[in-house]
Amino acid sequence: MKVINSVKEMQVEAVSLKLKGLRIGFVPTMGYLHEGHLTLLKRARLENDIVILSVFVNPIQFGPNEDYATYPRDFSRDRALAEAEAVDYMFFPSVEEMYPHPLTVKAIVLERTNVLCGKSRPGHFDGVATVITKLFNIVMPTRAYFGKKDAQQVAVIEGLIADFNFPVELVSVDIVREHDGLAKSSRNVHLLPQERQEAPILYKSLLAAKSAIEAGERTPEPITNLVKDMISHHSSGVIDYVEIYSYPQLLPVTQLIGKVIIAIAVKFTNVRLIDNLMLEIQ
Ligand code: PAF
Repeated sequence: MKVINSVKEMQVEAVSLKLKGLRIGFVPTMGYLHEGHLTLLKRARLENDIVILSVFVNPIQFGPNEDYATYPRDFSRDRALAEAEAVDYMFFPSVEEMYPHPLTVKAIVLERTNVLCGKSRPGHFDGVATVITKLFNIVMPTRAYFGKKDAQQVAVIEGLIADFNFPVELVSVDIVREHDGLAKSSRNVHLLPQERQEAPILYKSLLAAKSAIEAGERTPEPITNLVKDMISHHSSGVIDYVEIYSYPQLLPVTQLIGKVIIAIAVKFTNVRLIDNLMLEIQ
């Protein structure tokens, strides 16, 4: 595996791979790789000739009071995991390499961001869309792989690819969970021991919501109330949101019909967890 720190060098490699007609599978990450990322890498390995992983904690997608400084980082561990997944290139630029001067242009996301994390993290998705635009131009992927845990991110990137005509196929991959149902996340290491015990209630509440819908409930409010009650009774976490929207448009629904997402965010002492369930309702 080749580790590349320079934007120019990565671009030169990508152009030469493209000229050889090779399919590039790209997994963009902020590092501290977990099984969710490894699942994306495995899928990329299966479907492409070349796999490129990027590890870059993107400062412009963090708000001033968010966890940019404490976001977990471990380059050696990430490199070893990437090597074990037969990654061909690990793109690992510094902040100065990616943002050598203040941006003169950035991507502004107009739709799909006035709800969920977009609402509680203003500017976050502009930062994501901007760095993904840069990474697509640097890595020139055939396919890009994203986890469904960040379902709003997937919806935003789907819009970015369509609106900016990137010749990139978006592949979204199912959430990978711990044995007790907690969605895997680099941030889980910040849960206090007691909170780690409580955290699986997020997924359990989503499964309870699914059962209620399967039993015939078609109105969003009883479902969101059920989820909120379960989380507040069984954890010390503070609910940021429990909401249901159409997917990928992320518009409010009055009836549970068609493709919908039930999305949750809960704040614990040092970490905010998100989870979701997507359902296709007849
Ligand atoms: O999901 C992430 O890790 C980040 O938002 C991404 C897509 C790598 C952009 O910085």
